[in-house]
Amino acid sequence: MLRRRFFAWAIDQVMRVYDPLVAGHKRRLFHDLQGTVLEIGPGTGPNMKHLPQGIDYLGLEPNPYMHPRLLAAAEEHGIQAKVVEGSAMEIPLPDASVDWVIGTLVLCSVPDQAQVLAEVRRVLKPGGSYRFIEHVAAPPGTPTAWLQRFIKPLWSCCTCGCNPDRQTWVSLEEAGFRSLQMESVNLRFPIISPHLVGQATR
Ligand SMILES: C[S@@+](CC[C@H](N)C(=O)[O-])C[C@H]1O[C@@H](n2cnc3c(N)ncnc32)[C@H](O)[C@@H]1O
Repeated sequence: MLRRRFFAWAIDQVMRVYDPLVAGHKRRLFHDLQGTVLEIGPGTGPNMKHLPQGIDYLGLEPNPYMHPRLLAAAEEHGIQAKVVEGSAMEIPLPDASVDWVIGTLVLCSVPDQAQVLAEVRRVLKPGGSYRFIEHVAAPPGTPTAWLQRFIKPLWSCCTCGCNPDRQTWVSLEEAGFRSLQMESVNLRFPIISPHLVGQATR
């Protein structure tokens, strides 16, 4: 419990440094969202400032200590938001019920990426898309790849289960979306680099 409370505070501090680095990608990914938007693992709401007003926003966040900051960020940026209790492993929404799913830095932490992506696909309406930014494993043999492996046990413990070295692109490719576009970008942020930025359409 203490760890989750600490993480809610810590991620908010880290985002103040990290978010400006990724802001351009977020604007590009999120500027044209409409209708019902489900965000998985929204944390304390650093994406609120990049979302268009007028959407119906649902935030599926299992850490309750994030909720007050998440709702405050929504209010500050004029987003109509509801918190949904639960996990992206079993999204508590009906099939084909949302227009968009978004997620940033979440697939690094979930227990089973394949299951989460199946759930994302299930709740999306046909033609709906999942837009994401995820940090992933560095290329083998690079100093960052070595650091990711070396620091992983401690890192995971301090970040409520984040894995710095996941080959998330494999899970995305195997998830059965009708189309998938993604690019690798280097944000020059230590340990959690490179990133994948992209969209998967049901
Ligand atoms: C590194 S934080 C990123 C938060 C936010 N998306 C951001 O970009 O700052 C990872 C988030 O994923 C959430 N998370 C972890 N496991 C989850 C799950 N099974 N379902 C939904 N969210 C989860 C955590 O509670 C946390 O808010």
